[in-house]
Amino acid sequence: MSRYILGVTGASGAIYATRTAMHLKRLGHHVTALVTPPGRGVLAYEGQEDLFKYVDEQPDVKNFFAECASGSADYAGMVVVPCSMGTLGRIVGGTSDNLLIRAADVCLKERRPLVVVPREMPYNLIHLDNMTSLTRMGGIVIPAAPHFYDRPKTIEELVDTVVARILVHLGALTTADNIVKPWKGIRIPASKSKAPSVKHLAKVKAKKK
Ligand SMILES: Cc1cc2nc3c(=O)[nH]c(=O)nc-3n(C[C@H](O)[C@H](O)[C@H](O)COP(=O)(O)O)c2cc1C
Repeated sequence: MSRYILGVTGASGAIYATRTAMHLKRLGHHVTALVTPPGRGVLAYEGQEDLFKYVDEQPDVKNFFAECASGSADYAGMVVVPCSMGTLGRIVGGTSDNLLIRAADVCLKERRPLVVVPREMPYNLIHLDNMTSLTRMGGIVIPAAPHFYDRPKTIEELVDTVVARILVHLGALTTADNIVKPWKGIRIPASKSKAPSVKHLAKVKAKKK
């Protein structure tokens, strides 16, 4: 069991936070949620209050006396999901002006995994520069960009394609096996050309159904 910090901001996509918290709990981890005031508003608007069922503690983001404000506390890492462009900028700027930003700053200084899941479109140059800077600082940017090749049937399955990557990068899961199947490649008959033909891919797809 490890302890993880889940930062939730006022970007759209609170379901990513709910599914992350749910899987962290299912895997036996401890979850400290840091939710910004806009985060609480958007989360409620998107009907994701279930998130709090999977949370062990939720210190106020104005409370700098909370445990996660210090590098001496034994947290294994932090994810900010979904991450607004405002919070992304403040993390990169090192402002530490609320507990979420301070906890992210602590993760960077202690060289612990800090995963940030930005949600905005399109990006302006400030957003892109901030993502580059965060990557240079050691943060891991995982955009809320789900994949479709598993042909997910529900929004939860689609969201979990992102959540699986978050958990692997946090170190909370060794492989994505028990959430989404890892890509195993497609075997091409030796006699055929190097790249699979459209016909071959259609056959593989039909078999998977
Ligand atoms: C319904 C709604 C959706 C929003 N979606 C986004 C978004 O996807 N990305 C973003 O950067 N800001 C979004 N915002 C704006 C942020 O909530 C706003 O910039 C806020 O100041 C972010 O504060 P925080 O980073 O402290 O949570 C949204 C606001 C609302 C009301």
